[in-house]
Amino acid sequence: MSIKLGVLISGSGTNLQALIDAIAAGKLDASIELVVSSRPSAYGLRRAEEAGIQTLTLSKEIYADPTVADEVIATELRRVGVDYVLMAGYMRMVHDPILAAFPNRVLNIHPALLPSFKGAHAIQDAFDYGVKVTGVTVHFADNHYDCGPIIAQRAVEVEEGWTVEQLEARIHEVEHELYPHVAQLLAEGRVHVAEGGRVVID
Ligand code: GRF
Repeated sequence: MSIKLGVLISGSGTNLQALIDAIAAGKLDASIELVVSSRPSAYGLRRAEEAGIQTLTLSKEIYADPTVADEVIATELRRVGVDYVLMAGYMRMVHDPILAAFPNRVLNIHPALLPSFKGAHAIQDAFDYGVKVTGVTVHFADNHYDCGPIIAQRAVEVEEGWTVEQLEARIHEVEHELYPHVAQLLAEGRVHVAEGGRVVID
């Protein structure tokens, strides 16, 4: 089954690009119907435009009331008939208007093994802590930062002598494989949220 995606971004959009590329390569049975950006300067907007994807940019003023912003976003996502909403470097939390419109259908990707190293500087924080293993998490979003049922995780070993830049590069490589992979599991209808919020992949 082909699914329709909405992607929320704020920045460079390399995860968005990985999804675009996976679709073009026939590895992801999906279409991206709308890219929403919280920042007009997000480079990801250019990636979307180059791929012929409709975009929506929200102004800072709209975010003065995050619920109002999320009502606008939810309305647009529904208008284009989106099945799932993928946050990809979206530096804002999603609130009830989006979560209620897409229950268990809003995903986020985080560059650490949750619940460790939540927040906007997860790779640096894990590196500074001196962990030997970190990784990537894809999870359903709820109305807290970096929380919600975990769908998939991949571990990344921190090699001796690596700089934070080397770790960052490896984490992003893994992200770019994992997000399209999880999206394909959604397209195949294989991701289920069981009682207690645990995610089961069949
Ligand atoms: C990624 O590391 C993602 O895990 C985090 O923000 C970054 C976004 O990168 N939430 P990009 O905009 O997809 O290049």
